[in-house]
Amino acid sequence: MELLTGQTETEQTGKALAQENPPAGLKMRSTSTASECPICRGTGWAFYDENGYSYARECDCGIRKREALGKKLKFANIPDAFSDVRMENFRHDIYRRQDSQMVITKDCKAINWWIDGIEKMKAQGMGLYLYSDTKGSGKTRMAASIANDLIYRCGLSVKFATSVQILNEIRASWNREEGMTEHQLLDDLSKAEILVIDDFGIERIKDWIEEKLYHIINSRYINRLITIYTSNLPIERLEYDDRITNRIKERSFPLMFPAESVRDYIAEDNFACLKAVMAS
Ligand SMILES: Nc1ncnc2c1ncn2[C@@H]1O[C@H](COP(=O)(O)OP(=O)(O)OP(=O)(O)O)[C@@H](O)[C@H]1O
Ligand SMILES: [Mg+2]
Ligand SMILES: [Zn+2]
Repeated sequence: MELLTGQTETEQTGKALAQENPPAGLKMRSTSTASECPICRGTGWAFYDENGYSYARECDCGIRKREALGKKLKFANIPDAFSDVRMENFRHDIYRRQDSQMVITKDCKAINWWIDGIEKMKAQGMGLYLYSDTKGSGKTRMAASIANDLIYRCGLSVKFATSVQILNEIRASWNREEGMTEHQLLDDLSKAEILVIDDFGIERIKDWIEEKLYHIINSRYINRLITIYTSNLPIERLEYDDRITNRIKERSFPLMFPAESVRDYIAEDNFACLKAVMAS
């Protein structure tokens, strides 16, 4: 399990930038393939001459934008099961109870308002805290939908991780010679433009865990960086030190999720499917 793919986005972008902006007139050599753009031959740069000078501009085929998006998606590390989920395909009718449908409709309204105002939210460092004590109620799916919307619609850089993943990676960094150091890991999580911490508050509290979480959350608090949490606990019931919970409270809009498990319904449907096969 590799939380940060061994390369930070800054490093990736840095490398990409180093390959960018070829000197005017410098033609790049490339071996062309049938599917390649005939203008830039896959380099992303189109060359043209004007007033006796040669210039390069970004090619209209959009390969550079696609590559940048690909890098963002790789960096985000959103679970495969949620790679296609978006706000617009988050279903309300999957919840069977009317009160749940009302709750999710209001949640979606609030989240869409938050995404539409993302520039203001970024300036204020205001994130979201999605919670419900019912497991399987759609919190992770919603967090992934928000993350995908922020990447595809708003062009932002998002990092998605469960709190267990974060803590395991930190622990793993203590005993290895290669890969990211603990300092680099903490630094990346502290500096990510938007950080999603899924399943927050489930780990058994230990001093070192609180210290690392405080480091990440406080750095993000100081720099007004948006963090999105999902949790089975409301902020008030998190068992962390006040220094952590106070900062989350100040910088998150809390949104309660329905007390209904979509996961149970999916399991029921799967079982009904199996029974139908066995009966046929
Ligand atoms: N609105 C929805 N439309 C379609 N499928 C959904 C919806 N909400 C949740 N699901 C599906 O239900 C399952 C459980 O959802 P999810 O993992 O988001 O729940 P959760 O609240 O994060 O659970 P936990 O508290 O255990 O972390 C997933 O397979 C998810 O894709
Ligand atoms: Mg979840
Ligand atoms: Zn091209």
